[in-house]
Amino acid sequence: MRTVFITGTAGFIGFHLAKYMLDEGFRVVGFDAMTDYYDVRIKQRRHQMLLQNPAFSCLEGRLEDMDVLHKLVKDEKPDVIVHLAAQAGVRYSLENPRAYMESNVMGTFNVMECAREFGVDHLLMASTSSVYGANENMPFVEHEKTETPLTLYAATKKANENMAHSYAHLWKIPTTMFRFFTVYGPWGRPDLALFKFVKAALAGEAIDVYNHGNMARDFTYITDLVRGIRLLVDTPPVEPETREDILPGDSLSPVAPFRVVNIGNNTKVPLMDFIKEIENSLGMEIKKNFMEMQKGDVPATWANADLLERLTGYQPETSVAQGIDNFVKWYRDYYEV
Ligand SMILES: NC(=O)c1ccc[n+]([C@@H]2O[C@H](COP(=O)([O-])OP(=O)(O)OC[C@H]3O[C@@H](n4cnc5c(N)ncnc54)[C@H](O)[C@@H]3O)[C@@H](O)[C@H]2O)c1
Repeated sequence: MRTVFITGTAGFIGFHLAKYMLDEGFRVVGFDAMTDYYDVRIKQRRHQMLLQNPAFSCLEGRLEDMDVLHKLVKDEKPDVIVHLAAQAGVRYSLENPRAYMESNVMGTFNVMECAREFGVDHLLMASTSSVYGANENMPFVEHEKTETPLTLYAATKKANENMAHSYAHLWKIPTTMFRFFTVYGPWGRPDLALFKFVKAALAGEAIDVYNHGNMARDFTYITDLVRGIRLLVDTPPVEPETREDILPGDSLSPVAPFRVVNIGNNTKVPLMDFIKEIENSLGMEIKKNFMEMQKGDVPATWANADLLERLTGYQPETSVAQGIDNFVKWYRDYYEV
């Protein structure tokens, strides 16, 4: 039985990934600080559900607490590490930038140190589409420059990519960085648009629609996303012998077993279409406050997911209409509304 150590298992993506990996026959060791960035009760519920499976165990702790993290990795000897714990959220990084430096920069450094000391077959860590920042060439391709982050959140994730590259080069740790694009689905994050829109709509309140609705996102359904991660777990990058060994379009480093991979849906959905689908699913019209663009936000994201498909055969399977329906069903059931 292979062991995977997943950080952020009480979080949205970590919870779903842990469930998926348990179903795939892995032993899963979880780790999470249960931070109060959003409602801690939903995090506790996620962990309670995972704990029903005897192949899951977890520890509550902070990534910055190296002694705790070090002991856990030493004792559990994971074959693979998937590092998802982070201070997430684009907008909150304007309010509380320090949380991002602590969790994302120091925290990720500690995870990398554990991977270096104890050795793993594959280290996989979460980056974000936000690293594409002010890039306007869409769809976004991994090997394009990402030097114009617009928020400290994006900058810490870009720093993680660079930190990881150096460790992959120096210590030959096979490392994959995922760039996720707006992930949504049941058990989703309360700070993200879909959750906020459904909550407001069911309470008869208006939703805030930024940039007067002229926004678009590459939305990724959670089950598709964790399937993509699972496929990548068994696709560790191998350092090429020569630069000619790198296939066109591959982001593989010429000097390290290191690769960056977009996990997205390959499509750009206009925000107003996304809202329309929510209205269809709820069977009601939602009141809207049209607002200016928010500081640090980008008008559009759109993933080129060709590399992921080439590496793993991955194809997204869930339509936005289906994904929103699944979320609405879960929300109504969970909150009994
Ligand atoms: N959800 C998305 O749309 C999206 C998009 C791009 C990137 N990401 C990245 O994916 C990863 C998972 O995101 P998510 O949506 O599941 O977020 P989430 O906030 O639901 O989960 C993150 C978890 O990390 C934990 N955590 C935060 N700081 C910690 C620390 N210092 N020590 C230990 N645990 C800590 C939190 O308690 C939380 O449970 C993050 O790295 C995030 O930046 C998410």
